Amino acid sequence: MTADLTVTTTSTSYPVVVQAGALASLPTRLEALGLRGALWLVCDGAVETLYAAPVAERLRGAGFVVHTYSVPPGDASKSSARLSDLHTWMIADGVERRDAVLALGGGVVGDLAGFAAATILRGIAVVQMPTTLLSMVDAAVGGKTGINHALGKNLIGAFHQPRLVLADTDTLSSLPPHALREGWAEVIKHGVIRDAGLFVELERIAEARGWDNARPGGLWDAADAALTATLSGLIRRAVAVKVEVVSIDEFERGERITLNYGHTIGHAVEQLSHYGLLHGEAVAVGMHAEARIAQLMGMCDGDLVERQAALIHAYGLRTALPAYDVDAILALTMRDKKVQAKKIRWVLPAAIGTVQVRDDVPEELLRRALQA
Ligand SMILES: NC(=O)c1ccc[n+]([C@@H]2O[C@H](COP(=O)([O-])OP(=O)(O)OC[C@H]3O[C@@H](n4cnc5c(N)ncnc54)[C@H](O)[C@@H]3O)[C@@H](O)[C@H]2O)c1
Repeated sequence: MTADLTVTTTSTSYPVVVQAGALASLPTRLEALGLRGALWLVCDGAVETLYAAPVAERLRGAGFVVHTYSVPPGDASKSSARLSDLHTWMIADGVERRDAVLALGGGVVGDLAGFAAATILRGIAVVQMPTTLLSMVDAAVGGKTGINHALGKNLIGAFHQPRLVLADTDTLSSLPPHALREGWAEVIKHGVIRDAGLFVELERIAEARGWDNARPGGLWDAADAALTATLSGLIRRAVAVKVEVVSIDEFERGERITLNYGHTIGHAVEQLSHYGLLHGEAVAVGMHAEARIAQLMGMCDGDLVERQAALIHAYGLRTALPAYDVDAILALTMRDKKVQAKKIRWVLPAAIGTVQVRDDVPEELLRRALQA
């Protein structure tokens, strides 16, 4: 049994559990946290029968009152209409302040259900139970919740820290390979920004597998129990990076910007593809481009760029920038949320495990990095 991680901010503290089979411990963990009110379990259609039904049954067996709501899979569920439906469901069935929302699913469910919990009755408890690699490593930890607006993604929301994050890595075995693959981009990112040892471990596994990137899930192989256990350990280590960063900077005023490595170019490319590229695929491309910017700035050598590219490829992702107009990419980077006083704050690697924030990257250098 691995020890729990802990997020500790100025306002709160909560455990983050990353473990195979972790869902089985949910009833006892809720009891231990004093969460004995009704439970409002939100999931999406993909996890409803696979995980939500057994979880609800186990909770009822332990004496909890459980209400279940399933949303259609996909980002369109992060809408004000769906949020309003969730509010109606809870109010009509008598939600109380001592109750808790259980968000079981990927980042879509986590963001939507988390925001419903943040807003109903001025805020009730939420437990995040991520079932995608991306939501385990990123979305479920740190308390960012919200929905999309017609004018842009994630524009309406609130910080609402969960009381518990319970990531059961066994749930990844049913994840479609493309969803698993894109999650590796965030795992690699966490190695580059803060944990060189994690990066080296990822390299060691790739090396042991002959740098073979043909596996659909990007090295994940549910049939190989030993490998799956090793990769679960790596996921926990990648989650630890997010736990550390949000503990230092709960409200994204400083350190949390480092989590955006690869995202400035990544978001631009994602938008230019009209979301044809998955988020993690775009972040992989963005990390490669931003490492090249760092190299041209003289912050790191070519070896870092090559090691990172080799790892991205080994985990089933690409580094090549799609053939978009450089001006279009640059225009979109100026709309990045990290722009301050019309200057982009770039998160750039100085070494594996260390990044620096720079706002002095000349446009001509950016063009050279993107054209290359
Ligand atoms: N709050 C944050 O800090 C934060 C950070 C990053 C991303 N996000 C948000 O997260 C969302 C993306 O999250 P995501 O990548 O998890 O996408 P997602 O929630 O859409 O899940 C991806 C797909 O996998 C399915 N699925 C989920 N778990 C499964 C499982 N175990 N087995 C089989 N299928 C499963 C889902 O139904 C969906 O079709 C975006 O809306 C993004 O804005 C939030």
